[in-house]
Amino acid sequence: MPHRIALDGETDFAGWRNHARALILANVPPEDVSFVTEDDAPALFEDTPPLSATSESQPEFRVPRRFVELAEQAALHRDRDRFDLLYRILWCLRGEPQLLDLASDPDITRLHAMTKAVRRDIHKMHAFVRFRAVATQEGEHYVAWYEPDHHIVEAATPFFARRFANLVWTILTPERSAHWDGADLIFGPGATRADAPGEDELETLWLSYYASIFNPARPKPRAMRAEMPKRFWHNLPEAQLIAPLLAGAEERTQEMIAKAPTKPVARRGAKHPDPAAAEQRVEAADNLVQLKREALECRACPLWAPATQTVFGEGPKSAPVLLVGEQPGDQEDLAGRPFVGPAGKILDRALADAGLDRSRAYVTNAVKHFKFEPRGKRRLHKKPNVGEIRACAPWLEGELSLVSPKIVVMLGASAAQAMLGRSAPVMKQRGRIFDLPGGRHGLVTVHPSYLLRLQGDDERDEAYKEFVQDLKLAVRYQAEHA
Ligand code: URA
Repeated sequence: MPHRIALDGETDFAGWRNHARALILANVPPEDVSFVTEDDAPALFEDTPPLSATSESQPEFRVPRRFVELAEQAALHRDRDRFDLLYRILWCLRGEPQLLDLASDPDITRLHAMTKAVRRDIHKMHAFVRFRAVATQEGEHYVAWYEPDHHIVEAATPFFARRFANLVWTILTPERSAHWDGADLIFGPGATRADAPGEDELETLWLSYYASIFNPARPKPRAMRAEMPKRFWHNLPEAQLIAPLLAGAEERTQEMIAKAPTKPVARRGAKHPDPAAAEQRVEAADNLVQLKREALECRACPLWAPATQTVFGEGPKSAPVLLVGEQPGDQEDLAGRPFVGPAGKILDRALADAGLDRSRAYVTNAVKHFKFEPRGKRRLHKKPNVGEIRACAPWLEGELSLVSPKIVVMLGASAAQAMLGRSAPVMKQRGRIFDLPGGRHGLVTVHPSYLLRLQGDDERDEAYKEFVQDLKLAVRYQAEHA
């Protein structure tokens, strides 16, 4: 008998999970099940009453955590068939636990594309929502109108509650609204654009802020359009300034050159480290350029102060392999680029020997500032501690979610600590691919500077060969999952 399951709204993942579990335990195949939500066409026939999931005689069915995480994200996608797709995958997972790794499976490809689109949509909402102030009897109330692509309002708005905790605000969207009263985040029905206020003081302020941060010496219309796709422009007050600003850019550049400072600008920073700020900065960044720009200002731990600069990751956004090192060294700190010193030279050679040109990989570090101990004129490398690795984790997570590599290679213990959230014995764990949290895959190997420390030539040659072997595994894995 076909089962038509009515879910309690577009984001009723818990409802789907309960029904799906009961259906699986009752052995109902996917072709006999369809899930509908309130958005779907009116029912042509009665909804099926829920099956009981609690019969004692039913065998236990363990669902991989990774699937649950992916499914929870994919459930927010606008695709009408998403819940049917998830049930189909769940059904197949019973007999095929490795299914999630099968890049050739069309359902799995679709699942990953959906989760990526949802994550991106959440990032976009964080970056492009603009509040306008409305005076009420109780005081100032901030209201924004926004049109997300997917059902992300519940998932995306806790970010604003953290960021604007002291304000009272409402975000209106066509499907849902979110309201923060300073203590609780409450969700309600959708609204229309007309419900959101128009021009006001805050907007004027925002426009002059935007005009002042716009650097006329570097107008990059293409980059601006990429960061702020055209469809967002109608909601953004600053968009109307783009054309006049571009037009006046040349003139203002000349003025700026004439007024160019003769002394370097002093580096400013918060007196106290603020780890939460890193997370917020990452959430607001929508692409690697923006993420790096935000990271340059990071003060989440005290390492920024003695270092020359933030050394952010580099490489193509589409890189299939992402390599994580420990932290920049002396040369990296001065150059502002990862792995350009002696360890970087070995890494480049080993990657080439493993069949991967470095320019095709994304290379970054667990910690983005150089930690050192001054010794005369020299700066001696100091291993970052767990707190520093944790403080820097939002940046690495931001890079991982924007690059979406097929495989993450952890170079040494600090990288493994950053990726796994715990210490891992590198020599024991090296050389095999395993699941990482968040549906990723990874491989641990030694840090290239370990090879530099080995004394004997034979020992170093042997260790180098093993290092290349590990990298080859990663190269093969990404080729097989391309
Ligand atoms: N060691 C690292 O871990 N990273 C670098 O960028 C350089 C040396």
